[in-house]
Amino acid sequence: MSLTPAFLDELRARTLLSGLIARTVKLQRAGREFRACCPFHNEKTPSFYVNDDKGFYHCFGCSAHGDAIRWMTDQRGLPFIDAVKELAQAAGMEMPEQDRRSAEKAQRAKGLHEAMEDAARWFSERLHGIEGAEARALLKKRGVSDEVARAFGMGFAPDSRGKLKEALKGYGDPMLVEAGLLIGVENKEPYDRFRGRLMIPIRDVRGRTIAFGGRIIGDGEPKYLNSPETPLFDKGRTLYNLDRAQAAARKTGRIIAVEGYMDVIALAQAGFHEVVAPLGTAMTEHQLERLWRASDTAILCFDGDSAGQRAAIRASVKALASIEPGRRLSIVGLPEGLDPDELIYDRGPHEFDNLLRSAQPLADFLWSQEVGAEPLDTPEARAGLRKRLRELVQSIVHRDTREEYSAEFRRRLDALFALPSREVRRPRSGKFHPNWSNAEAPPSTVARRLKASGLNPVLMRELCGALILYPTAISSNIERLTELIDHSREGQILEALLDGALSYPRLDKPTVETILATAGLKAAAEKLVRADGMAYAYIRRHRDHQGAGNDIREAISALAAQPALNRAIEEATAILKERPSDDAFARQVALVRQRQELETHLGNLKVADDENLDE
Ligand code: UTP
Ligand code: MN
Repeated sequence: MSLTPAFLDELRARTLLSGLIARTVKLQRAGREFRACCPFHNEKTPSFYVNDDKGFYHCFGCSAHGDAIRWMTDQRGLPFIDAVKELAQAAGMEMPEQDRRSAEKAQRAKGLHEAMEDAARWFSERLHGIEGAEARALLKKRGVSDEVARAFGMGFAPDSRGKLKEALKGYGDPMLVEAGLLIGVENKEPYDRFRGRLMIPIRDVRGRTIAFGGRIIGDGEPKYLNSPETPLFDKGRTLYNLDRAQAAARKTGRIIAVEGYMDVIALAQAGFHEVVAPLGTAMTEHQLERLWRASDTAILCFDGDSAGQRAAIRASVKALASIEPGRRLSIVGLPEGLDPDELIYDRGPHEFDNLLRSAQPLADFLWSQEVGAEPLDTPEARAGLRKRLRELVQSIVHRDTREEYSAEFRRRLDALFALPSREVRRPRSGKFHPNWSNAEAPPSTVARRLKASGLNPVLMRELCGALILYPTAISSNIERLTELIDHSREGQILEALLDGALSYPRLDKPTVETILATAGLKAAAEKLVRADGMAYAYIRRHRDHQGAGNDIREAISALAAQPALNRAIEEATAILKERPSDDAFARQVALVRQRQELETHLGNLKVADDENLDE
């Protein structure tokens, strides 16, 4: 790029940012700045600010940030040079001389775009004409409706080396070769690239056709043929259907990535419009960034075969570089042997819906992949697991997120390895510790910890705080809450609240205050509510009471399940100590996992809250 920094500075200085942004976003004045609902993520209350003095915009919700040029590339989807050109024109600035060449290039691109549009039209006419019978039969067999085929601009390339070339001859062979429509080999006449294929136009974010994918009609190799890289088509930066999915994602609040473009089309027909696909290659960082631009909630969906499994691992590892607060990534694998297209066809759209609901958050997915990678029955294997997890964590760029992942994995490792596994078990010979052979084995760390903890104190504190702030949840959950009473300070507060719920007809905030004051727990309760804002967890994330009530109920039932689970773990541990066996070991591991999942679930209720503080 030959634009000088001075030129760009001048351009920024001459552009009134708020004026530029106000063309597409409704701005409100806020002091010396302007404020709006952020155009880069979905929100109801404004956290997007525009500062004309500094010449940049910033969103406190999603961290979108940039100047006028950035606005044009990120929000309007223009290539850098076009962004500069458009701003320069508006500011009455002449583009620098050196950029004639890129201007020419842009001119040529315009020709290429037209050639692609004409090709798409021509393919589409073939599909719906006499030549297209076979291709239409294929669509019918796959259950693709005529309406959807038209909506996606599908077409048919006849099995001929020269028909498209002839139809588009006005562009001249060199341009058609550059567009990837013809294959040009030295000393030979260029000929049609796509022959005898069902054609799927690949569009850029602005909806322009930049490439084609062609599926063979019968059997044969390759099954799919894509356009080569051209000045218009950068495979690693393109996501199939992003233009439409982006708009749909704004409504559904999520974006879904699948592996194939026929999957995208089948899903659209089934009512899932927020779906994209890479183009036959592994998901790149650029593509992940594009996903994040479309939505802060992304679900990666992989075919139920070994290739899909590998792709899922690769994509999730790559995604670590781009995760940060406010972004939610989860991964879902299709049932064995199926892809989304087949699932929808065989089992119907609701099955896909169910599947999405079972998507695993990134951290859980990576954890279970690594833990399941090999048996963890030697210290070396366990050290290997630690090392792999550490390496994964290292590739997280965002600092706080990295630290949270590190802490999370450490907690899980501790819980997993604190089990009386083989090396903790009673040694066979009693040589150094003669007493062990018939007396008790030394208490394992996990046994000690269980006695001390019982209920997770942090979660108890949060729940109590939430109940104080939201007392209506008490009366509707009395039975389960009763199970949570213990000797801790929170247990006492809970007991007082439950007593109160039985003697007062209606629990509101003043009543709760009276109850707590009478029980001498006022100061403790205040401390709890003020503690660090965590108590608000279940309330703040919802503006409506019903949502808060639902979260509290979920938290209560998860917590209420803990004492029984803890007892079961203790029992399993005792059995394991007495008669170590693989079964006993497996049972105990399973129980500990179960407890972990409960806690993760509870944690998630809270995390979701923290992310929404701006709302
Ligand atoms: P799949 O083989 O999983 O596609 O390839 P599919 O949609 O299930 O195919 P059908 O149902 O048999 O028609 C997924 C993606 O990989 C790329 C394409 O982008 C395809 O959408 N691909 C696949 C190729 O580029 N070339 C191939 O030969 C095969
Ligand atoms: Mn398929």
